[in-house]
Amino acid sequence: MAEKCVLAYSGGLDTSVAIRWIAETYDVDVIAVAVDVGEERDYEGIRAKGEQVGAVESIVVDAKEEFFSDYITRALAANLTYERKYVCFTALARPLLAQEQVRVAREYGASLLAHGCTGKGNDQVRFEVTYAALAPEMRVIAPAREWGMTREQEIDYAEEHGIPVPVAKATPYSTDTNMWGHSIECGLIEDPSLEAPDDAWSWTVSPQEAPDEPTYVKVTFEQGVPVALDGVAMGGVALIDTLNQVGGANGVGRVNMMENRLVGIKSRELYEAPAATILLEAHKDLESLVLDRETTHFKQGMELKWTEMVYYGLWFTPLREALDAFMAETQKPVTGDVTVKLYKGTAEAVARTSPNSLYDFSLATYGEEDVFDQASSRGFIELFGLPAKVVSMVSKKYQ
Ligand code: ARG
Repeated sequence: MAEKCVLAYSGGLDTSVAIRWIAETYDVDVIAVAVDVGEERDYEGIRAKGEQVGAVESIVVDAKEEFFSDYITRALAANLTYERKYVCFTALARPLLAQEQVRVAREYGASLLAHGCTGKGNDQVRFEVTYAALAPEMRVIAPAREWGMTREQEIDYAEEHGIPVPVAKATPYSTDTNMWGHSIECGLIEDPSLEAPDDAWSWTVSPQEAPDEPTYVKVTFEQGVPVALDGVAMGGVALIDTLNQVGGANGVGRVNMMENRLVGIKSRELYEAPAATILLEAHKDLESLVLDRETTHFKQGMELKWTEMVYYGLWFTPLREALDAFMAETQKPVTGDVTVKLYKGTAEAVARTSPNSLYDFSLATYGEEDVFDQASSRGFIELFGLPAKVVSMVSKKYQ
């Protein structure tokens, strides 16, 4: 009996060619697994194509709920944003794809795992580090890294083997999509000195063409998890879908950045992530209302570390879990409503309420209700400033 290899399958040309190439090169049975994490696609068509091009078994896994509950809620708790701009939707989904792949591999008694990533990107790392953590005994095949075919040779290979080649793609771009965001790469985008062409964007209207009147959305959070929009309770997947539509219509969530990959290459990236942008804005705003200062500041450092770990593919690691335990503790008071104003490409939290609000009007006001005893600040500043005073008296450094 032939050994079995489970391939992370997208239905595209690379992974379709990979099915045949792996079967021929390694003399194994290939099982294709496509995972639905919220990209709207014809998954039955993808499943059928997997079998048509030579997989012994082709499987589609709907992991949208899991992506929301196990990954996106944690991303929100940690305000996941890489290099101040990228909401990391690709990085966030990879461990889940690999996790599903390993589950199928165990179910079918497979000994090999494969993915279609090239040797230049972050995704190969994310897949393989996850395989290493979840199935250290399994061997890995990375066809696109091994086969050394040019695009033209790949198309020839596909034609020789009866693998359908998409007729002249509608756009010259390469994209990756799930419910948390959408990326656009290749073509003219690879020249960072040029503004991105208008036709690169597909989830969002241009901010210039967005409506002249703002749209307001009220997001309700319970312990850091978004649970309702404009007062209507909603599951996470539907809530994100709605915000992608509303945000996209207002030109919200476009990102145009230079990014540092883990493998050392800088790349120019375009992203569209309306729902993630709105939810992160709302979530950070609510945290600023309910978290105390020390927790807020310490958490920012932890967020940076958590983000790096997720970007680097270190999801299934003890430190990520330990940091998540910290994040989870901080989310306990993050309950309340935030109103976000969407206007010509911007998403701004403009109003917020919470039963756990730490804002005290009688302390903050400069009006008649003021109860704060300003005299008590004097002694505080005297001691707080004492080290500076001592340095000055001893060294005369700043005098
Ligand atoms: N640069 C981003 C990342 O590494 C997005 C990558 C999307 N492109 C892709 N080929 N998967 O997470």
